[in-house]
Amino acid sequence: MAKGRKIYEGKAKILYEGPEPGTLIQYFKDDATAFNNEKRAVLDGKGVLNNRISEFIMTQLNNISLPTHFLKRLNMREQLIKEVEIIPLEVICRNVAAGSIAKRLGIEEGAALPRSIIEFCYKKDELGDPLVSEEHITAFNWATSQEIDDIIAMTLRINDFLTGLFAGVGIKLVDFKVEYGRLYEGEMVRTVLADEISPDSCRLWDMTTGEKLDKDRFRRDLGGVTDAYAEVARRLGIIKDTAGAEILSFNQE
Ligand code: TMP
Ligand code: ASP
Repeated sequence: MAKGRKIYEGKAKILYEGPEPGTLIQYFKDDATAFNNEKRAVLDGKGVLNNRISEFIMTQLNNISLPTHFLKRLNMREQLIKEVEIIPLEVICRNVAAGSIAKRLGIEEGAALPRSIIEFCYKKDELGDPLVSEEHITAFNWATSQEIDDIIAMTLRINDFLTGLFAGVGIKLVDFKVEYGRLYEGEMVRTVLADEISPDSCRLWDMTTGEKLDKDRFRRDLGGVTDAYAEVARRLGIIKDTAGAEILSFNQE
């Protein structure tokens, strides 16, 4: 499918105009960044794996009537999505303490949280995506109270769904980050899940060994990043084995 004009390039993805009005093509790069671009690498095959994993998850969410921007995967690195206006929030949902909440509140990594906790960060690279409250969000008009309510309800539903999906393949969903967009349909505006859900945006721990199967392998220099992503894809039944051959053949595209 012919790609249109590049309209946005982020750290891990590029958006192009789609074949029809109201559609975009989302291209998954192999680039990995952490700590707001301080740490960078190109990880062969990461984009291919994230495209496949995100396709799998978004398809399942669409199937349970959780609205997403995802339309279909086009090839190994690209998917067709609905054009939305991104709400400038990173919505984090946590089940187990890890990463920034462990540091910020002095909780041991791995401790179960008393209940699932949702946090909002203002999506602004120059500021390092600071944590904000609902007060900030409504005062600065980043989202309305109704949108915040919808976002919380949808995020908790995604959490329940993903927790079960991953538990079924021996993986603990520690936390994840999602983004939402406004989908304009005539007079109507709907809040839909946007961006991606992949090991770049989740913390996934093997339930038996505790092994990290997510981007923390990159952030913390643990090595084996794409092998871990491939393991997630294999367990979900998306790829057949972790042998590099299949990923390498994906990489030809
Ligand atoms: P944190 O513990 O570093 O705040 O991360 C919480 C979750 O959000 C974790 O699953 C990783 C994900 N995340 C992103 O997807 N993008 C980001 O820029 C950051 C900081 C975290
Ligand atoms: N995505 C963020 C960055 O590129 C941070 C992260 O995921 O750790 O800096």
